Amino acid sequence: MDNHNQALQKANQSIHNAKERVKEHHWRERYHVEAPAYWINDPNGFSFFNGEYHLFYQHHPYDSTWGPMHWGHVKSRDLATWEHLPIALAPSEDYDRDGCFSGSAFKKDGKLYLMYTGNVWTGPDHESQLKQVQAIAVSEDGIHFTKIENNPVITKAPEEGDIHPFHFRDPKVWQHDDSYYCVLGSRTKDHIGQVLLYKSQDLVEWEFVSVMAKGEGNFGYMWECPDFFELEGQGVLVMSPQGLKPEGHKYQNLHQAGYILGSLNYETGKLSQGSFEMLDHGFDFYAPQTTIDEKGRRIAIAWMNMWESKMPEQEVDWAGAMTIPRELKLKDGKIISSPVEELKSLRKNEISYTNLLVEGETSFPDVSGTSLELELEIHSQQATRFGLKLRKSETEETVITYDVKEQMITLDREKSGQGPGGVRQAPLALVEKVLKLQVYLDSSSIEVFINGGEKVMTARIYPSEQAQAISFFADDQVTITSLKKWEIR
Ligand code: FRU
Repeated sequence: MDNHNQALQKANQSIHNAKERVKEHHWRERYHVEAPAYWINDPNGFSFFNGEYHLFYQHHPYDSTWGPMHWGHVKSRDLATWEHLPIALAPSEDYDRDGCFSGSAFKKDGKLYLMYTGNVWTGPDHESQLKQVQAIAVSEDGIHFTKIENNPVITKAPEEGDIHPFHFRDPKVWQHDDSYYCVLGSRTKDHIGQVLLYKSQDLVEWEFVSVMAKGEGNFGYMWECPDFFELEGQGVLVMSPQGLKPEGHKYQNLHQAGYILGSLNYETGKLSQGSFEMLDHGFDFYAPQTTIDEKGRRIAIAWMNMWESKMPEQEVDWAGAMTIPRELKLKDGKIISSPVEELKSLRKNEISYTNLLVEGETSFPDVSGTSLELELEIHSQQATRFGLKLRKSETEETVITYDVKEQMITLDREKSGQGPGGVRQAPLALVEKVLKLQVYLDSSSIEVFINGGEKVMTARIYPSEQAQAISFFADDQVTITSLKKWEIR
């Protein structure tokens, strides 16, 4: 057996040995992707291949902390239920000895190609002593991957221009006309985030085109996990800039994930840059990656955690989850994100109310639980503050509040249970006094889609098992014109 297959076998065995003891914990998500055991971070290789969605993820199959990166793997027919597959990539060669870092997938000649970053530590200081190259692995069946002989296909960062020689990672491939292109995360020598554009005819020989986009002002020291695509004819560069400084309610997380709209000149390799917008205003959303499916939908999934954030599930031998798949669309020059419609197939036991009056704090029969979807519209009337509390017990609650005067929506996890607390806010103007919410609650997470996806707020929360109540509150009378709740199977 070759090195790669040996490494995979060992990693799969490690997961096999751990998964039974991890499985039953009450924080294990019911409908979000997690590894069967141990650590995950970024989504990788999100793709549509032979009628199925494939999603890979950064994975450390020996521990619930980050370590030598492998690629875990799940697939789905409907984006709603996922099947675990064997680990797809493991460090095994000189060029990826210390990790198969993030990358993407591309279908060519009936095969699935993965392009990823081979990481090697050249000394103990991982900020400056590293070598990153780009490599390819190929599969006929979408399950077993072989690293190609020509690896690494990009052996070093471009030497011309102001490009850091070592921080050079996370290739995302797409096709345009008859060529392949990829964007790579990069920084300048003095640590300003940027994205590089490469071009290829065959996915194997790559030519550097240009620095495609670069930060100006408060825009971070490194741009990780870039992704470029067109949405309704408009170019979109998604990336995860590290180290933006907080500005008011903005950029409160350690690192950010968002996009700029612009148009890419394929001749010069330059993107005309618009302003940076966030894709999610909560706590836990990083390194999103998109794919396009047969229906032409642009779908994004992100890592539903944040670097250096406390993850209480590590004590029970796993860490990390993916967001639900979100369809991206353009509206009034901004991206809106909504849950993919297939998630409706997970709904069961509908509870429905109309025209509920709320003043003070109230609960409604059968509106409670831990893994569920809520859809509601609230007419604010004369109230100045109103909202709802979820995963509530005597001492715990996770609170969504709308403030009419401030025109601000808040997600508060100060009393959510274990794990980090904090508050996140997003500005939001109501149209005709109506707030529309779609809330996806799972065992240890909440995703709130506001006014049709105009804003989204995501958080990991770690409540006790018995915290299951939901209540609604208002400082003056409001009307919940419609409230629907489904359990999610
Ligand atoms: C982003 C990231 C990537 C890198 C990977 C390593 O979260 O830092 O830039 O490829 O994680 O796991």
